[in-house]
Amino acid sequence: MIVRSAPVDDGLVARLTEAERGVVAKASPKRQREFATARALAKDALRELGVPGCDLLNGPDRAPIWPDGIAGSISHCDTRAFVAIGKRPQIGTVGVDVEHRAFLKPELWRLTLLPEEIAWLEARPVAERSRLALTMFTAKEALYKAQYPRSETYMGFMALRVELAPREPDHGEVRCVFQQEVGPFPEGFVAHGRFARLPTGELVAGVRMPE
Ligand SMILES: CC(C)(COP(=O)(O)OP(=O)(O)OC[C@H]1O[C@@H](n2cnc3c(N)ncnc32)[C@H](O)[C@@H]1OP(=O)(O)O)[C@@H](O)C(=O)NCCC(=O)NCCS
Repeated sequence: MIVRSAPVDDGLVARLTEAERGVVAKASPKRQREFATARALAKDALRELGVPGCDLLNGPDRAPIWPDGIAGSISHCDTRAFVAIGKRPQIGTVGVDVEHRAFLKPELWRLTLLPEEIAWLEARPVAERSRLALTMFTAKEALYKAQYPRSETYMGFMALRVELAPREPDHGEVRCVFQQEVGPFPEGFVAHGRFARLPTGELVAGVRMPE
C-alpha cells in the first residue's frame, strides 16, 4: 500500500486535468487547493502502481471513482492532504482521515460518540480527553471511507464503536466494532486501524479492511 501526504499547495490546481478542474470550478479556493493537492498525491501513487494518466473524479455519492483493481482513500484539511492507495484485492479497502484541529469540542461528543465511548473518555486524564475524542471521531470517518466501496451504504456515527489503544495520547491502535449490520458487514464485525499525530501537528487515522 502506498501512503502519501503533503502540505496543501495552491500551485497544484494547475496540475488538475480538465475534467477534474470541472468538478471544483465553482468551489472555494480552499476546496480547490485541497482537492488538487490530494489529486496530485493520488495520481503520483497511481503512476507507481502502473496506472498513469487518468482522471480521478467523484461519483454522485462524493466517493472517489478509482480505476479498476485499485482501492484508495483521500482526506484533506486546511493544512494537509493525505492518500492511501493499493491494489485490490491484496489490500482490501482502506480509509484515511486527517484533521488539523487539536480536539473535538465537548458539545460535539454527544452527536458523534456513543455513551460507552464517552464513558471511556471520562475515565482518562482530563488533559487527554478532548484530543482522544477527536481521535475517535477521525477513526470513525476513516472507517466510513474504508467500508463504503463495499457497502455503498451511509453509516451514522452511532453505528460504530471505536476502541482506542493509545501507546501515547498521540499515537496508537484503533479497533472499530460495527454496532449494526451495514451492507455485507454483520453487527459485531471488527476492523483495525492506527492513529498518529504528525510532526506537523495534524491528526491522521487509517483503517484497512482486508477482503
Ligand atoms: C464522507 C466524509 C467521511 C468525508 O470526510 P470529511 O472530514 O468531510 O472530509 P475529508 O477531507 O476527510 O474527506 C473528503 C474525501 O472523502 C472522500 N469521500 C467522500 N465521500 C466518500 C464516500 N462515501 N466513501 C469514501 N470516500 C468518500 C472523497 O475523496 C473526498 O475528497 P474529494 O472530494 O476531494 O475527492 C464525511 O463528509 C461524512 O459524510 N461523514 C458522515 C459519515 C461518517 O463519517 N460516519 C462515521 C461513522 S462510520
